[in-house]
Order: sequence, then C-alpha cells, then structure tokens
Amino acid sequence: MASNVSLTRYLVEQQRVNGLIPAQLRLLLEVVARSCKSISQAVNKGALGGVLGTAESENVQGEIQKKLDIIANEVLIEANEWGGNLAAMASEEMEGIYVVPNRYPQGEYLLLFDPLDGSSNIDVNVSIGTIFSVLRKPEGSQVSEQDFLQQGAKQVAAGYCVYGPQTTLVLTVGNGVAMFTLDREQGSFVLTQENVQVPPDTQEFAINMSNMRHWDAPIKRYVDECLAGKEGPRGKDFNMRWIASMVADVHRILTRGGIFMYPWDKREPTKPGKLRLMYEANPMGWLIEQAGGAATNGKERILDIQPTQLHQRVSVILGSKNEVERVSSYHA
Ligand code: AHG
Ligand code: MN
Ligand code: MN
Repeated sequence: MASNVSLTRYLVEQQRVNGLIPAQLRLLLEVVARSCKSISQAVNKGALGGVLGTAESENVQGEIQKKLDIIANEVLIEANEWGGNLAAMASEEMEGIYVVPNRYPQGEYLLLFDPLDGSSNIDVNVSIGTIFSVLRKPEGSQVSEQDFLQQGAKQVAAGYCVYGPQTTLVLTVGNGVAMFTLDREQGSFVLTQENVQVPPDTQEFAINMSNMRHWDAPIKRYVDECLAGKEGPRGKDFNMRWIASMVADVHRILTRGGIFMYPWDKREPTKPGKLRLMYEANPMGWLIEQAGGAATNGKERILDIQPTQLHQRVSVILGSKNEVERVSSYHA
C-alpha cells in the first residue's frame, strides 16, 4: 500500500522525532537516493541509452567492467562530492579511496558503495541494484583508507536500491528497515513498507548450485538436507532461487524470507569468498539483522568482523534466523 510519506519526510522524522540521524546524515542519504534515481533512469533506457555492454577496462578485483558499472560509479561520485556531508568515498570500482576535493567542504561521513550489483544481469534485463554503507569518519585530521576499516556494527546507515520491475530503495538507520518505491510521475521515493520483518523459518534457499563440488562439508550438508525434502531429516520440501544479483536475492528474503549463501569454496581456497565485506556483506548484513534475521560467515557475525582491507572478501550466509543458526551450528 502506498502511503503519503516521502523518503524526505521519513528522514526528517528520523531526525526530528526519533533523534536518530543528524541533519548532515539526512542530507547525505537524500543525495544517495537522488543518485539511485539517476542510475534507475540509465538502467531503464537500456539499449536506447547506449548503456549496455562491456567497457574496455578492468576493476581492482580483476573483473571486466560493464558500461553501467562505470556510469553508476560516476553518478555516485559526482552527486556526493560537493554537498559537504562527506570526507571520502570508496567503491567496488575504484582501487583507492576517493577523497572529497579540497574545493569543497569536508563532512563527517564516509560513503562506501557497490555502484552496480549484479553486473552479469545488466544485458539480459534482469534485476540489478546499488548497495551503500555509511560510516562516521573517526576524529583526526587527514582522511585515510584506515578510517574506512571499521566493523559493520559501526555503520550509521545502510541500504540498497533495486532496479527491477519497480525501483525500490531499502534503508536502515538503525531503527528497523523501511522500503520506498520510486514514483516516476512525482520523481520521488514513497514509503511503501515499514518495519520489514524476515520470518525466522523458511523453505527457500539461494546458492549457486554449480559450485556444489567445491563447497565445504557444512554447506554441502545443509543443502543436501534441503534437497532431501519431506523424506529427509528436515521433513519438509525446499524451493530454490538464484538471481545472481545479491540485491535481488536479499530483496526477496526481506520480502518473504529465505536463506542466501555465497560461501567460501575450493575454487580459490586462499580467497575467503566472492562477495566483498565493506560494501556488500556489511550493509546487507545490517539490513537483515534490522529485520530480525541473521548474517554470518559461518563462524562469526558479519558485523563483528574487523576489516583489514578495503576490498576484502568474505563468506556470506544470511536471512531467516533459524536457518542461518542451523548452518552456523554445522560449522561448529
Ligand atoms: P557484482 O556485479 O557487484 O560484481 O556482484 C555480483 C555478485 C552478487 O551480486 C551475486 O550474488 C554474485 O556475484 C553472483 O555470482 P555468481 O555469478 O558466481 O553466481
Ligand atoms: Mn556486487
Ligand atoms: Mn558491482
């Protein structure tokens, strides 16, 4: 159901009524939302806007960049650098941090983002998104990469925008999870769900099954038990989904429950996983926890992991609480 509460009003209320966010953070989140609107426009134009296909470059992770990876990154940088709310930004698509140029005032916050999540889905017209995380800059003079290396539990805001059949912005400032649908006629995000809750139990799991032979024993055991269905130890049938856009898989879980896993596997045993801690696992982990779910790497709560590198990877298991706890218990 649509409300008459815009994102702007919701944020003002979080600032005024709940005293949760300072004005500078509110303004920063408005700018992030505006960036997502621009990215949504570009995504929607698709081939008409010449935004599909591959760019001739690689990012720091050694992945071929898509044109939209670069466009979304530029939109976020350009929109956020001049407002005076930020000290620096970090992105999946940039090796080092981006310090706000000194022609602009420096703010108190740090913004991290995955500008375009689900890049393999861009050209095939399947849901993609933008993920973001906001940290407070520690006291001190010159901002550095070290300032970003804070546990996920220190986030002051996190969210994502999913560009699917609808464009939906999902946000937490530590007071539960709220969803806002983009009203294209009004040009604004409208609150369409508050107090989002992930059901503690589920019969739906999400994992890339093609990697099964590379998994570790606990993950293999969990999935085997799901596949055994009614006749197996779980005594119920399970359904499976894998969109290959973390935003879209997490959005489904926030909407109807489920468990999402991108675990460490033996393909590249020295890598802790595929997904990135700072701008994928942390913001998604906090959203899921704020909705009553859980997020772990199997051994430790995602939000408690002390980062040592900006682009560090992590094993991710998140979603419905009882299922996530079960997977953790198989790791014990
Ligand atoms: P990105 O497009 O930002 O690199 O992220 C893609 C991630 C994530 O969104 C998704 O869950 C996963 O990669 C899919 O990986 P596979 O293609 O290995 O299934
Ligand atoms: Mn991603
Ligand atoms: Mn990405």
